[in-house]
Amino acid sequence: MDSSWHFRRLDASDAPALHALEKACFTLPWSEEQCRAAFGSAAFAAFGLEGADGLAAYISVYFTADEVEVLNLAVSPELRRRGVGYRLLGLALRTAAKMGMQKAVLEVRVGNAPARNLYERHHFTVVGKRPRYYADTGEDALIYARSLTAPDTEKGKDFA
Ligand SMILES: CC(C)(COP(=O)(O)OP(=O)(O)OC[C@H]1O[C@@H](n2cnc3c(N)ncnc32)[C@H](O)[C@@H]1OP(=O)(O)O)[C@@H](O)C(=O)NCCC(=O)NCCS
Repeated sequence: MDSSWHFRRLDASDAPALHALEKACFTLPWSEEQCRAAFGSAAFAAFGLEGADGLAAYISVYFTADEVEVLNLAVSPELRRRGVGYRLLGLALRTAAKMGMQKAVLEVRVGNAPARNLYERHHFTVVGKRPRYYADTGEDALIYARSLTAPDTEKGKDFA
């Protein structure tokens, strides 16, 4: 990747680009309006990787009192397996930890091996299951969680 690539916090003006990425990456993409509306909540935040051709990857999260929920993580197909998803998740977890969040949670399709491997590399573990959670395929959702507090940030368990 050349020097034009940069990570930045996204805002409502990024809704069209977010929707385009959602369509390229998900079977049930968020509409442009859903993307724009999400920024209306103070608890919502999104971070993206942008290059000369625009937004190429993003992660969205929801901050509650002491917990961050990862809502979506998407990397455009031509940029995958280059560490982008791993770095974006690390950025979101570091931000949440700095804000004082104690824990991170997320849901993922049981059959989504790339995403599950990525979350497990970031030390998430399965804590529950929602049977037939996804409307399109009836697939189960797995609930993953990890602590963001000191014991988990020791060597080998940080957010790098
Ligand atoms: C899941 C996704 C975000 C991964 O992004 P990525 O930038 O390609 O991932 P990275 O290159 O950072 O990979 C980090 C680790 O994730 C795992 N991983 C990523 N892609 C994988 C694949 N195709 N198969 C198996 N493991 C994979 C590996 O453990 C990898 O580490 P390694 O490369 O050292 O083996 C990307 O495939 C994607 O956008 N998928 C469609 C949308 C989606 O399913 N999002 C997650 C659900 S919300």
